[in-house]
Amino acid sequence: MTILTFCSPVKLVTAVDILISAYQHLRYVARRSQTTATQFNIPATIIVGGGASDEVGVQAKRFGVKNALLVTDAYMESSGLAGKIADSMRKAGVTVTIYSGVQPDPNDRNVLEGLEILKKNSCGLVIGLGGGSPMDCAKAISAMSANPAPISRYAGLHKVPNKGVPIITIPTTAGTGAEVTKVVVIGDTQRDVKMMILDTNLMPDIALVDYTLTMTCPPALTANVGVDTLVHAVEAYVSVKANPMTDPYALSSIRHVSRNLLTAYKEPNNEQAREGMTLAALQAGIAFPNSSVCLVHGMSRPIGALYHVPHGLSNAVLFPAVTEFSIRGAPERYATVSRTMGYATDAAPDDIANQKLVAGLKKLNRDLRIPRLGDVCKVDMATFDENVLKMAEDSLASGSPDNNPVIPMAQQIVDLYHKAW
Ligand SMILES: [Fe+2]
Repeated sequence: MTILTFCSPVKLVTAVDILISAYQHLRYVARRSQTTATQFNIPATIIVGGGASDEVGVQAKRFGVKNALLVTDAYMESSGLAGKIADSMRKAGVTVTIYSGVQPDPNDRNVLEGLEILKKNSCGLVIGLGGGSPMDCAKAISAMSANPAPISRYAGLHKVPNKGVPIITIPTTAGTGAEVTKVVVIGDTQRDVKMMILDTNLMPDIALVDYTLTMTCPPALTANVGVDTLVHAVEAYVSVKANPMTDPYALSSIRHVSRNLLTAYKEPNNEQAREGMTLAALQAGIAFPNSSVCLVHGMSRPIGALYHVPHGLSNAVLFPAVTEFSIRGAPERYATVSRTMGYATDAAPDDIANQKLVAGLKKLNRDLRIPRLGDVCKVDMATFDENVLKMAEDSLASGSPDNNPVIPMAQQIVDLYHKAW
């Protein structure tokens, strides 16, 4: 009778689950202990605060160049902001050529177009103005000014041999952190995949982080890139590559998100909330390239490549499901995230804090009106399933899932896509 009770299916599943969790946690601890020294890179100059973008002319002049390329998108040009930045440059004696052809989630063709303009006008400096797309494109154009094409040969880690022309970044959304990262994501139009290129030669020289430029960011975009910021900070903190240099930035970013994201979404003119989210994005942008991103970003890139879903949105739709899956690898770290978000008290045990974290992230998505995966892909599930295994394999091939607290198998990634559907 006793044996029958012990072997009841529910208890057996629970026992197996506990064993798997313990194994995943031990594995995470062992993987983290293998890292002994870490590299930490940030731009040489970061100017933060209202009016920081007015410094662009003075800062550009420090490089002693006569011509600069301003890389941006059509909206920034039509809104007049690109012209304002160009005027500031001209007043400082630097001629500016504007390339405003960057599309959302830029590809290798955008980089080539910008590079051609840079060469034709002998530009000795590149400025990235806008969200992550123009800034990534500007950084890639700089790299390609000193390295032979095609850009696909530099995909991966530390493969860009030469530093290109200096880079100034000016973000207009609070999200990607691209203003301070040594990483770009560029679409490869030949293979229909998103390439991640990480190298110190992509690091901006100067970041001008001016929250007043984010005041007009629409609510939906504020929500998407705001959750992307939170994903950056949380992934940097739970990654096997997390380290004492990145942890303080990651936790501070999480705190800023918890205090400001919903307010920035609901009250676009709230300067304090906008400034808080700008700091959150900046600090997460410092943390994650010096630690790493993990499974959310790994799974997000194939969605962007196949269904052209903006990066922040594809991360946001995956975040709660991937967090729930990954907690068992790093329960203490996720519990700290939960407490930092204000979802659990300092006294709450880790398992309770982690239950509250999953519930809190689901609610955050609902409050920000983040849709489900099925809504953003705009196909039916049968069509999605035709590609889903390849998406899982592409995700694993990106390398990001290797840093996750739990390293998934391809079928588990498929299951997570279905859970987020
Ligand atoms: Fe991201």
